Amino acid sequence: MAKEHGLKVVEDAAQSIGAKYKGRDSGTMGDFGIYSFFPSKNLGGFGDGGMLVTNDDALAEYARVLRVHGGKPKYYHHHVGANFRMDTLQCALLSVKVKRYAQYTADRQRNAAHYIAELSKLPGVMQADPAHCKCVSTQDTWLAAQNAKIVLPVGYAHNDHIWNQFTLRVLDGKRDALRDHLVAKKIGCDIYYPVTLDQQQCFANLPASSLSGCDVSHRVAGEVLSIPIYGELNEAQRQEVIAAIAEWL
Ligand SMILES: Cc1ncc(COP(=O)(O)O)c(C=O)c1O
Repeated sequence: MAKEHGLKVVEDAAQSIGAKYKGRDSGTMGDFGIYSFFPSKNLGGFGDGGMLVTNDDALAEYARVLRVHGGKPKYYHHHVGANFRMDTLQCALLSVKVKRYAQYTADRQRNAAHYIAELSKLPGVMQADPAHCKCVSTQDTWLAAQNAKIVLPVGYAHNDHIWNQFTLRVLDGKRDALRDHLVAKKIGCDIYYPVTLDQQQCFANLPASSLSGCDVSHRVAGEVLSIPIYGELNEAQRQEVIAAIAEWL
């Protein structure tokens, strides 16, 4: 579609730095890729930051000019840009952290593997079946047949997951009850995200036809709950999360 309309694709890889799709790095499949270094991201700074990448030298040069108010040479403006520079202190921190990024990812993958192995042993807790991921009704039928209460995330074999979140689907309208239980036990958890894009107030003036077809997203927004997955989470802490979920079931 982008080619047809002469558009450039900016691939939003804000949450997925290091993830791979069929061996290709997330953020390298569009004309541009963007990564976020917001503190909650896998490669987080201590404040805001981000990066734009491209393989196209002409686009890279254009982006560099836009980054400095559109001026090149300095104070001569052929384009209207803005200040898109990353703060120097964030750069200093991130250039240290980036060297350790592979370890951060490995730690998250270890945490996810532990959760999946242990939580799957609990009655009514199971991974979704990737074979059914593309068809909601088939997946629903399959989950109902298993008496599923909590659905664990599952990655396709052809993808490398970097676990920015570890998100459970809590079925039967019980998501908030599990969240309250975990919060009472002082276990950090959150809903990513409670309101889908099409339901945001700022889009309320768009024609209804452009906002239709998001039924699955609406439903999932009422089911999701993300549990701690950050790399420093140790085994005892993971066990605490698992025990709290087991107690709630
Ligand atoms: C998918 C996605 N895109 C974009 C952003 C925005 O990133 P930033 O806060 O660094 O601008 C986020 C941050 O939450 C995100 O998750």
